Amino acid sequence: MSTEKSYGGASIEAGKKSVSNANQLASVKESRKTENNINDNLSKQDIASYKKAGEIMRKVREYAKSIIKKDENLLDIAEKIEAKIIELGGAPAFPVNLSINEIAAHYTPAYNDEEKARDLLKVDIGVAVDGCIADSAFSLDLAGGKYKQLIEAAEASLRAALNYVKNNKEIRINEIGKRIHEEITKKGFSPVRNLSGHELGKNMIHAGITIPNYDNGNSYILEKGAYAIEPFATSGIGLVYDGKMSEIYRFEERKGVRDKLAREIMDFILEEYSSLPFCSRWIVKKFGTRGLLALSFLEQAGVIYRYPQLVEKSQKEVSQAEHTFIIDEKAEITSD
Ligand code: CO
Repeated sequence: MSTEKSYGGASIEAGKKSVSNANQLASVKESRKTENNINDNLSKQDIASYKKAGEIMRKVREYAKSIIKKDENLLDIAEKIEAKIIELGGAPAFPVNLSINEIAAHYTPAYNDEEKARDLLKVDIGVAVDGCIADSAFSLDLAGGKYKQLIEAAEASLRAALNYVKNNKEIRINEIGKRIHEEITKKGFSPVRNLSGHELGKNMIHAGITIPNYDNGNSYILEKGAYAIEPFATSGIGLVYDGKMSEIYRFEERKGVRDKLAREIMDFILEEYSSLPFCSRWIVKKFGTRGLLALSFLEQAGVIYRYPQLVEKSQKEVSQAEHTFIIDEKAEITSD
């Protein structure tokens, strides 16, 4: 089992094929070449889509920063950001994550959520254009400067990692992790070791390769493709565990279900989201609140997987920063 949990960390790939060393990784790559969603060779069209997704992301990030204020409803914030993605010609690659303090990731508001923006808020956004994804996150201090240094630690570590990516022909997984770890510890904090960056595939948030937030000794050189670097910094011990259930789900496997509405929703999920994460809010929007019971049927039947919130083990605050890059002839940061 993989202990490295990136967004969608418990995804199809991560469960079956935990990647911890170069040999294993090579064999995973080899076996995946027979599958469709590998992008060892990005097509011209894919590259254009990745760049378009990145362009939309840059605008959405600016927009999000302009509307988020202390005590604003998280529900309104999430809905506005997702609407903006669509307005600009993209689709949300996953529900906007708005995770506060010790919740490191995987919080998205319920349809009737009353939680408000406060303290240390992480904003993690996904934009998809023709299945090509830009995945990016930032943190906001809504407590008058209390979390400024913790946020700066995540951001500085991301900058250091991106500088390495931009300036090297051979991009090694552990060299990225090493830079992240160095920057964060230099500022007196710890990286979250079981959260990580990840490869992105067509309509896949976690496409196999994991990019650690420390030097895990894996000197594998990244091939052509799309990747997200995603450091998390904390004043705690630097581990997350599975907390309460979130409102985020992912399609797992088509199965026979008795309930008619549940069957209808299963078809809708497949058609609309494929294997990308979605949330209860989106189901309520389409089917009303009766969709919630149907969702629980689908969850019990194993048709959909429900993500737990990821919580820092020592209950300490966590900051996050994230950008996406593609490697073609050379590396290019798409979301910044
Ligand atoms: Co990510």
